[in-house]
Amino acid sequence: MQIIFFHLFLLFTKITSLTTTNTLPQGSSLSVEKPTDTLISPNGVFSAGFFPVGDNAFCFSILYTKSKQSTVIWMANRDQPVNGKYSKLSLFKNGNLILTDAEKTTVWSTSTFSSTSLQLKLKNNGNLVLQTSQKINFTIIWQSFDSPTDTLLPNQPVTEKASLVSSKSEKNYSSGFYKLYFDNDNALRLLFKGSLLSSIYWPSPWRLPVDLGRSTYNVTKIASLDSFGNFISSDAFQFTSTDYPKEVFRLVKMDHDGNLRVYSFNEETNIFEVTWQAISEPCSIHGVCGANSMCTYDHVIGRTCYCLKGYKVKNSQDWSQGCEPEFKPVDLSCNRGESFGFLHLPNMELYGYDLDVTQVTSLRECQRLCLDLCEKCKGFQFKFNEVSTYNCYPKTLLLNGRDSHNIDGEVYLKLPKETLLSSKMPLKHSPLNCSIGNLSQPLNRFYEKPSKNTTLSFLAWLSFGIGVFEITIILFVWFFLFRTNKQHHNGDQIQRRLLSATGFQRFTYSELKSATKGFSKEIGRGGGGVVYKGTLHDDRVAAVKRLNEAHQGEAEFLAEISTIGMLNHMNLIDMWGYCVEGKHRLLVYEFMEHGSLAENLCSNSLDWNKRFNVAVGTAKGLAYLHEECLEWVLHCDVKPQNILLDSDFQPKVADFGLSKLLNRDERDSSVFSRIRGTRGYMAPEWVYNLRITSKVDVYSYGIVLLEMVTGKSPMEIHSLEIGGGVEHHRMVTWVMDKVKSAPTTMFWVEEIIDPKLEGKYDVSEVEILVKVGLKCVKDEMNERPSMSQIVEMLQSHRKRAPHR
Ligand SMILES: *[C@@H]1O[C@H](CO)[C@@H](O)[C@H](O)[C@H]1NC(C)=O
Ligand SMILES: *[C@@H]1O[C@H](CO)[C@@H](O)[C@H](O)[C@H]1NC(C)=O
Ligand SMILES: *[C@@H]1O[C@H](CO)[C@@H](O)[C@H](O)[C@H]1NC(C)=O
Ligand SMILES: *[C@@H]1O[C@H](CO)[C@@H](O)[C@H](O)[C@H]1NC(C)=O
Ligand SMILES: *[C@@H]1O[C@H](CO)[C@@H](O)[C@H](O)[C@H]1NC(C)=O
Repeated sequence: MQIIFFHLFLLFTKITSLTTTNTLPQGSSLSVEKPTDTLISPNGVFSAGFFPVGDNAFCFSILYTKSKQSTVIWMANRDQPVNGKYSKLSLFKNGNLILTDAEKTTVWSTSTFSSTSLQLKLKNNGNLVLQTSQKINFTIIWQSFDSPTDTLLPNQPVTEKASLVSSKSEKNYSSGFYKLYFDNDNALRLLFKGSLLSSIYWPSPWRLPVDLGRSTYNVTKIASLDSFGNFISSDAFQFTSTDYPKEVFRLVKMDHDGNLRVYSFNEETNIFEVTWQAISEPCSIHGVCGANSMCTYDHVIGRTCYCLKGYKVKNSQDWSQGCEPEFKPVDLSCNRGESFGFLHLPNMELYGYDLDVTQVTSLRECQRLCLDLCEKCKGFQFKFNEVSTYNCYPKTLLLNGRDSHNIDGEVYLKLPKETLLSSKMPLKHSPLNCSIGNLSQPLNRFYEKPSKNTTLSFLAWLSFGIGVFEITIILFVWFFLFRTNKQHHNGDQIQRRLLSATGFQRFTYSELKSATKGFSKEIGRGGGGVVYKGTLHDDRVAAVKRLNEAHQGEAEFLAEISTIGMLNHMNLIDMWGYCVEGKHRLLVYEFMEHGSLAENLCSNSLDWNKRFNVAVGTAKGLAYLHEECLEWVLHCDVKPQNILLDSDFQPKVADFGLSKLLNRDERDSSVFSRIRGTRGYMAPEWVYNLRITSKVDVYSYGIVLLEMVTGKSPMEIHSLEIGGGVEHHRMVTWVMDKVKSAPTTMFWVEEIIDPKLEGKYDVSEVEILVKVGLKCVKDEMNERPSMSQIVEMLQSHRKRAPHR
């Protein structure tokens, strides 16, 4: 009986506390020991209370409670958790809101003062507000929106004073290494700030803000995401999440891995899904692998680090500490004469820490420069320049290393002869991971008797002071470098240097007009424009696409172009540059000798082996668009006309990203009147107005596979004997029926295979292509495989059956 009463009592207190507390009145407090001591927003979506971050360690936090596991939105004391006993948050009569630890030390406070009566309220938008008690004409004294931790809620601004700082790791909520902030030149940037080094990595530090569509003149410094998924910043940076303009709950998060992401809450699954991210190439985030190492990315394994030859890892649990030389550093000094040499590392890049940038005419000249710099030079980056010279960047530190077949730069590593000649090679793709600071040790807060209060708070103030000093120095150095650069070169020169470094350039309209001989040689049409063949002034042959309508302003166009320009993969067409002038919007691509897959299928110039290669390569290109860059780069118009073939018949997907460039107006006027793509290749989602995901590209890809096998276009009509009668069906149904009704594989393969192949094909390869193709064209999008699964299926098949 007593027990029942007790339970009823508990239930009662639970209900009353849940329904009544969205306000903390003056002179009262919330205790860490009572789980019911929480504020709940009137709509029941947010709660504020003590959140456990370790063993007996708590942080006062605001949580979003609708997700499967409550999501932390804000923390008062992320760097100094409090004890699980006696700690409390109190709103004092004098207007100060104070968080005290067990021994009554102040861990955090709002430092506010008010002579009138105040109250603390958790609002429906997730904002914790300290305000005067009037119902109508209240004044806000303090609010959590002004001091975000790593998360922004809709309509909460980033400002000069309010920046986002990532957490250490997924489990460790203390301040981490990455920061989103407004820089001194008014641009919104991402900064890596390690214990020894710091550097900016977004937007691309190779390029000037204006080239990326950023303005540096607006001193307002404010940016926020609205309720529809549109993010606008005062420096003219802008983006929309992939689910724009749906009204769902979203948040912007500076993630612990260094990427800035938008998450949208999916009401059906109760989890957050990524709907935008700033960085598509995970290795371009700084501080991941530390000195003397290289970062590689693979969409199966993820991001990994490995040491350069001659170096060994310092702490395999924390790759951000990098690698240290196995040889003595003095071995690289000048008086050791010719006892060292250079190791050539193609397709790699190191960013920053250049001793100099010099134009040279040969590799030998760059080597000589590095040798003359003695032990200061650890190696150099070597890059071909447009004007048949090379850029030589001797490095004093080997940092921000990136190893990817998409990089066309080369690194030369200076090593002592005996290290150079040893056969020991670096272990790539080591099973070690490079998640920085992913050390989650249990944090214990034992109750201690009050004793050394004064020294503790002195230490806290000291470290705070040092922090402020450090940040000032960093900003100052950055500002100084930026200014001196500007003074030394005129803008044009910098721009050229920056551009040659990325191989992406801005052309003038007259340049492109003369390159294409007045737009005389048309080589294609579609995807919003006409494509012309042209020869650039440096004799490179290019395809120049002239976009039909200039819906977009220049800044928006530039922002999107820079996204497309960053996509680099051997199976994606390479964009060399662009032109924006008045109404003109042009894109400059590499020219593909063998034209499109459509032309080649038509002229029968592809034997079976080439067709299979095209299937695999195209899948890899699309997988890169989908996985590495997330779904916001959907192609939406995969078809044989958009798959181009280079001189080796390697496929390159063209026309990606254009959906972003062309349809802005359309999207604004009526949300779902946005059917895109080409009849025959379009997934049912377009027709039924369902959610558009990467699976629309998978569907189109499936049609292309079946087209490559059968040599028939998807809209061709074929007769089928069904029951006793004859029905007419499109290609897909025709293939499906042949496969289903045939007694053996051999039998249906012979029935559907392109007769132009004249019987020369590999039956098991045809079988896998058709099977994958049919999986891709399933009506139900969730039954279709992802592009990376397709790559796996096709490649594992190749491995099992090595080609003749
Ligand atoms: C709110 O305060 C302003 C001045 O601070 C006053 O003019 C206004 O009448 C007040 N409104 C109400 C509803 O009390
Ligand atoms: C500066 O940015 C703010 C906020 O985005 C905007 O309202 C304002 O118009 C901008 N000012 C100028 C001069 O562009
Ligand atoms: C990565 O590091 C974390 C933290 O040290 C560790 O728990 C995890 O097992 C490591 N993963 C691999 C694949 O080694
Ligand atoms: C971080 O560590 C946890 C285990 O402590 C592990 O499960 C997780 O995969 C790690 N995260 C990354 C990105 O390696
Ligand atoms: C989080 O990281 C900080 C700094 O590295 C460390 O002092 C603290 O113990 C960690 N906390 C947890 C819960 O692992």
